[in-house]
Amino acid sequence: MHVLLTGGVGFIGRHVLSELLDRGHQVRVLDSLRPDVHRDGGPASLEDAELQVGDVRDRAATERALSGVEAVLHLAAKVGLGVDVNDLPDYASSNDAGTAELLACMARQKVARLTLASSMVVYGEGIGRCPEHGKVSPGPRVEAALSSGKFEPPCPRCGQMLDTALVDENAPLDPRNAYATSKLAQEYYAKDWARSTGGAVVALRYHNVYGPGMPRDTPYAGVAAIFTSALRRGEAPRVFEDGNQRRDFVHVRDVAAATVIACEKAKPGFVAFNVGSGTPRTVGEMARGLATALNGPSPVVTGQFRLGDVRHITADSSRLRREWGWEPKVDFKSGMAELAAQ
Ligand code: UD1
Repeated sequence: MHVLLTGGVGFIGRHVLSELLDRGHQVRVLDSLRPDVHRDGGPASLEDAELQVGDVRDRAATERALSGVEAVLHLAAKVGLGVDVNDLPDYASSNDAGTAELLACMARQKVARLTLASSMVVYGEGIGRCPEHGKVSPGPRVEAALSSGKFEPPCPRCGQMLDTALVDENAPLDPRNAYATSKLAQEYYAKDWARSTGGAVVALRYHNVYGPGMPRDTPYAGVAAIFTSALRRGEAPRVFEDGNQRRDFVHVRDVAAATVIACEKAKPGFVAFNVGSGTPRTVGEMARGLATALNGPSPVVTGQFRLGDVRHITADSSRLRREWGWEPKVDFKSGMAELAAQ
């Protein structure tokens, strides 16, 4: 297929580009080379794909980029949790206005297939299992509790500790920060577009993606990159909360494979898939793994917290395996060793 990949110069985008090329697709990349991500200005061209430098919010640039393509993989976005409320307008503009512009242009040019990079953060705190009340949705964590070291969100009905239950794609959606809200809005715009145009949308709710090319040393860097950078400077990784918060770290090549499968298999309508390794780890465990791999100082558990953070983000990613045969191939240990060796 001839496809448009937005954000193809970004961390995940570059791996999606390689996967698309390996599978014989013809790719045009549209990337704005955002200065907060591409501090060196970014590349002037790409080896095996056409690069158009432009922003999806710019109608003329997007119309030009869509000319002659059959499908779009939309990865261009402002990522991360954000630094503070001053980031709100940029999330709304980059992610939501950008997606709205893209969808309108796609409708005009009759490009009917969209793969959307979404996120696990749309589930908020997800689902917990209360010994008394069964499956419950914990409310947002409150600052007073976090300040006194109470990191686990309690049962909203009786306050008891919860066991984790994995969320599937039908779990209630409950974004808890600006980024999560903007990702969910993208999904809703895309769903509406699919309904009105008969187009096909696959939203992929990525877990915590790591691997070669992770952005480093920016306020938007993921925790694996932050820890690796600290260890390279000879410093201990600083683990927030008590280190027992769980995430599903999924390798970027596995995510790229899932993204290309989604583009190839999309059918009219809207469908969302969770994309994770299937094996949750704690942040403390990941810090210890990287410290060992890099022969660096042991992690320090700081008790600090970020109010927008969700305690645990772990979901059931079996639907993508079951329905479309995707299998993650990179296990945690070798993936972290590869990151450490970079
Ligand atoms: C990450 C992604 C987000 C994605 C989501 C999907 C980044 C920046 N964010 O969010 O785009 O949608 O996964 O699941 O890649 N932490 C520390 N020490 C630090 C920094 C962070 O202990 O120095 C902890 C945080 O408190 C948090 C965990 O590490 O508990 C993960 O943080 P982070 O990598 O920022 O990712 P998420 O918020 O999970």
